Amino acid sequence: MTDPGGNFASQTRSERKAKIIWSRHKMRSFFVCFFLLAVFAGTRAQPPGLIANTDGRRTISLDGQWQTIIDPYEAGYYDYRYQPSANGYFKDAKPRTKSDLIEYDFDTSESLSVPGDWNTQRERLLFYEGTIWYKKSFDYQRKENTRLFVYFGAANYLADVYLNGEKIGRHEGGFTPFNFEVTNLVRDKSNSLIVKVDNQRRRDAVPTLITDWWNYGGLTRQVKLVETPASFVQDYFVQLRKGSHNQINGWVRLNGQKLSQRVTVRIPEAGVSKSFTTDANGYAEISFNANLTLWSPNNPKLYDVLIDAETDRVQDQIGFRSIETRGTDILLNGRPIFLRGICIHEEAPFRGGRAYSREDALTLLNWAKELGVNFVRLAHYPHNEFMVREADRLGIMVWSEIPVYWTILWENPATLENARNQLSEMISRDKNRAAVIVWSMANETPVGDARLSFLKKLIDHARSMDASRLISAAMERHYVDDKTQMIDDPLGEYLDVLGCNEYVGWYDGLPEKTDRLEWKSKYQKPLIMSEFGAEAPYGHHGDPLTRWTEEYQENFYQHTVSMLKRISFLRGTCPWLLMDFRSPRRPLPGIQDFHNRKGLISDRGEKKKAFYVMQKYYQELRESFEK
Ligand code: GCU
Repeated sequence: MTDPGGNFASQTRSERKAKIIWSRHKMRSFFVCFFLLAVFAGTRAQPPGLIANTDGRRTISLDGQWQTIIDPYEAGYYDYRYQPSANGYFKDAKPRTKSDLIEYDFDTSESLSVPGDWNTQRERLLFYEGTIWYKKSFDYQRKENTRLFVYFGAANYLADVYLNGEKIGRHEGGFTPFNFEVTNLVRDKSNSLIVKVDNQRRRDAVPTLITDWWNYGGLTRQVKLVETPASFVQDYFVQLRKGSHNQINGWVRLNGQKLSQRVTVRIPEAGVSKSFTTDANGYAEISFNANLTLWSPNNPKLYDVLIDAETDRVQDQIGFRSIETRGTDILLNGRPIFLRGICIHEEAPFRGGRAYSREDALTLLNWAKELGVNFVRLAHYPHNEFMVREADRLGIMVWSEIPVYWTILWENPATLENARNQLSEMISRDKNRAAVIVWSMANETPVGDARLSFLKKLIDHARSMDASRLISAAMERHYVDDKTQMIDDPLGEYLDVLGCNEYVGWYDGLPEKTDRLEWKSKYQKPLIMSEFGAEAPYGHHGDPLTRWTEEYQENFYQHTVSMLKRISFLRGTCPWLLMDFRSPRRPLPGIQDFHNRKGLISDRGEKKKAFYVMQKYYQELRESFEK
């Protein structure tokens, strides 16, 4: 007689023995399945890490029209008990009989363009925050010895990706790339690639609930299939060692079965051909000397660099330069420089919405060039790869930032992990770009212990991934008396370059208030004034003290520029910002209309009076710093 509760006391000795053996057996099979599951899950969902330089590989674009289903209640994901459903929209189901009940159909649903945010493609989606399902079907001829990955330039904000009804992965973060392997899932005909994109803002997310930019949702950047050999060159880092003008340090990483291979790094134009052998994990450190023309704004020299493994070859265009600080100076290739900068949001000129194309990048960067810049701050998140690669070609140095913006949940481990992951992906994608000289950890975050420990962890992580660049963050200042501005945020201790946002003359008093201000810093470090600005819609005129007029904005810049000239440790300026942009926090009718009008250029490319104040200042700086 066994007691259903299995209470040990009431059983015969042999029954007890049988039970022990049975439970041991159960325990063992439990562990075996658990182990198998883990391996299976690992091999299946485990993202292989970012594939570097997809433009240097065989790819198939999936851009274009995607079928979409707008799903504010996530009915395609949860059942009525708010439990994830096994038969969600990712199944892309079709009725098989006249009696079948299927309540969605991608193929008769409306389509949206990819790349592109959904907000500016449909009037009724302008303010939409929630889930939209995207479907792309494609045929694919499978090939011997070939692996296949699906690569996303970015998806804002949370993306769940499925192929032929199978979940292949999830990505969180709206501004960095990710890829998943689909070699074992892809079929020859009518593959169904489905992505659930959810841009709902969350308190624990990065960014968090409040931003001064539009929460553009969707598959906002390119989507492509990437083909690789079975064992391929997954990633590499080829840059000058910090402070060196001829010693290249870096590494190569292979992915696949054949991990230990002979790998040769070639820079034909510099007569370089250096071979290394990857270890059992497919990893090799590389280090060699080379006689190179250094990359600089006046001569943005890029070299063809070939990474030749036994089973794969990748080619890239890489520039080599050194960037470091010495006291309050910033040294490019060993020479002091002044960063004549401008802040840019990833907003498309003329059409509005998220910028995503080479043309968008060239328009924005050439406007910046007209202003006289040698530097841009890409705010407040990693921009698309075209921006960084065109900056590389145009000789424009770049400040790249992760959206740790305003008041993040500092004590939440998941928020830290999320921020760290976005930082990894940002550095991973752009680490071989000479143009990128600054990694920025945050913008206008409140002084506090939890915040400091959060940001210190990010700084350590960034330095562990890339010791060759400068680390910064956009901090805030405070008054020690009504004439003195002080930069002594404890975070400054851990930065190479201080970034500071200030709005004296706009949020703080009138423009002439800057005339009596002196700036001090607790740190013997260079300062980049990472933001300053005032708002005026193009064509709105009045006297220099009338808000929202071009004359006020011009007046603001005239006073601010003379204040900047008095700051002895200033080594860079980034006005806020190049072009007006959409913001949910700016409703003022007839003036802002949900746009932040601090651009020096309107979103239709019209230059405001203040543009010429900055252009003149940069001309002077150029003459004084580069004579
Ligand atoms: C802040 C912030 C920007 C914002 C700007 C403004 O400093 O960093 O994201 O747009 O000020 O108020 O215009």
